[in-house]
Amino acid sequence: MAAGATLNAASRKAILAAADSARVQRFVQTHGMRLGAARFVAGETMDDSIAALRRLNAQGLHANTTLLGEAVHDEATTQKVVAEYEEIIRRIDTEKLNANVALKLTHLGLDVSEDLAYANVSRLLELGSFIRIDMEQSAYVEATLRIYRRLREAGYDRIGTVLQAYLYRTPDDLDALLPLAPNLRLVKGAYLEPPDIAYPQKADVDAMYGRLMERMLSGGGYTAIATHDEALIDRAIAYTDAHGIGRDHFEFQMLYGVRTQLQLDLVRRGYKVLVATPYGPEWYPYLMRRLGERPANLLFFVRNALR
Ligand code: FDA
Repeated sequence: MAAGATLNAASRKAILAAADSARVQRFVQTHGMRLGAARFVAGETMDDSIAALRRLNAQGLHANTTLLGEAVHDEATTQKVVAEYEEIIRRIDTEKLNANVALKLTHLGLDVSEDLAYANVSRLLELGSFIRIDMEQSAYVEATLRIYRRLREAGYDRIGTVLQAYLYRTPDDLDALLPLAPNLRLVKGAYLEPPDIAYPQKADVDAMYGRLMERMLSGGGYTAIATHDEALIDRAIAYTDAHGIGRDHFEFQMLYGVRTQLQLDLVRRGYKVLVATPYGPEWYPYLMRRLGERPANLLFFVRNALR
């Protein structure tokens, strides 16, 4: 068991490190969709995304959509990203889909300036739909939380963000946010972070997730429990039952293509489940993080390659 966990941690590190190699990137970008990326990504176009959202809604699942992309370094590109998000928000609205948008601030210009990212998100919030700001690498956490606060202070309430259980700082961040009755998604954390910033051992991350989840659920805001970990999902159900926390105060969230049966089982039991459903041509870093989470996914790719 301990040996398995060590092997998994080593594979995760190797996959996330290999993701930076130009050769790996070229190979995966050329063959990845055919080899299995389509399991995790709704497609490359907005029409693909809308079709996937419709299919999920028809099964009783809610969804969010994300135009894949990150680390944009010029303002003109961020304007194109904003324009595409404006269009998808309008289409979600027109087609009356149970869906919203989750986006990354480095896609909207955080690497150019904090003010640009803020301006771009507030422009999208003017459309009135709920938007969640994903959490990226630890270097962006401070700025992301600052922007979230600024938006709330400016009166935007239909906004949420994400906290990552693997970061040592997260319990303090949560305490600081709770007075705002925030809408928070809790995740374990998907990036390669050094041990002076984040728990290196999965068991510690899992334990911290459980504690943070209970604090969030009792904290008076809205909690999106984003995990495929059945032990934590069972714990959330037991905790909310025991403390009389209504189902309108929380939801489960999972990733497109991951634990689909579990998603449907929870819907059948009367829980709200949202499926995070990304699309777009820039799926490479997203796919590599999904492989890093579960090195066994590599086997899925290899099997497809051998077919
Ligand atoms: P864990 O890794 O323990 O997995 C539990 C079980 O789930 C596994 O045993 C396996 O069965 C299944 N599983 C998990 N990942 C899988 C995969 N990729 N493929 C196949 N099976 C898999 N992170 C972040 O840093 N910032 C963010 O904004 C987000 N946003 C986000 C939204 C949503 C809706 C989800 C579900 C996740 C994120 N994440 C994220 C990713 C998150 O940090 C984490 O890396 C993954 O959710 C995997 O961790 P689990 O909680 O599922 O547990």
